[in-house]
Amino acid sequence: MARALERLAPLYAEFGLQPAVPARWCEDFRAQFEALLAARPAVTSFTFGILGSADMARLKAAGCYVIGTATTVAEALAWADVGADAVCASGMEAGGHRGSFLGDFAASMIGTLALVPACVDALRPRGVAVIAAGGIMDGRGIAAAQALGAEAVQMGTAFLVCPEAAIGSAYRQALAGATATDTRTTRIFSGRPARAIVNRMVEQLRPFEDEIPAYPVQNALTGPLRRAAAQAGQADYLSMWAGQGVAAARPLPAAALVAQLAAEWRAASAALSAHP
Ligand SMILES: Cc1cc2nc3c(=O)[nH]c(=O)nc-3n(C[C@H](O)[C@H](O)[C@H](O)COP(=O)(O)O)c2cc1C
Repeated sequence: MARALERLAPLYAEFGLQPAVPARWCEDFRAQFEALLAARPAVTSFTFGILGSADMARLKAAGCYVIGTATTVAEALAWADVGADAVCASGMEAGGHRGSFLGDFAASMIGTLALVPACVDALRPRGVAVIAAGGIMDGRGIAAAQALGAEAVQMGTAFLVCPEAAIGSAYRQALAGATATDTRTTRIFSGRPARAIVNRMVEQLRPFEDEIPAYPVQNALTGPLRRAAAQAGQADYLSMWAGQGVAAARPLPAAALVAQLAAEWRAASAALSAHP
């Protein structure tokens, strides 16, 4: 902890701040779960871990459709075992955090093309739907995921550049110029591997990647720094989550993007079925 604070001190100093041990490390999961149940959303989605069967039963009793995030077939099967309705199979191309919760992170860096059909084969006999995530940027990608047996896709990076996305201008600017080789999966922001655009913070802390405290400790230690950078409109110390497909993101209003995706998906599906 002392070393982690020491490493962050020069970065904090640029904003006239000092890193400190926070009063709490993260949100209270139990309190969050109770709030979620009280809201009774139609669909609930979980990542970073797995629910116990008692929590699952309460969600089902509240009428919620439950999605669990998996980065390996073992994780997908674990979600099927606790009664998930669907599993989001998240390939290593995806922007943001890896949801891995079994085995080690490095071995769980499986690409969407390898992960989705393996999850489909494992979960289809169990009646659990697979949602493909990671690197899907256009209608061709949706058709490809469907060909692999996915029932739906989950897209993040494609929607980040929509005007509706609540991101600051520094992040938006970085996304506009980024390509696949500008992203990297790193623990330096939160202590948990997450794919982000490489910036000064990633470069500076990269030599210490293996020594960084685990999530949620590093997440809490870097929080005030990232908030100060966001307020200053400074990209150097922001966690700018983005997937490998970032260069294909189109800055359209969300509704127009969805319409475009639907048209492209229809065209790609028709082209595939027209093939001899
Ligand atoms: C900025 C950002 C924030 C995200 N936050 C969450 C989250 O809170 N929970 C979650 O399950 N997935 C989260 N994701 C992952 C997306 O839901 C989705 O699975 C992923 O972006 C798909 O890969 P793509 O970025 O290549 O489209 C996030 C992704 C991004 C880019």
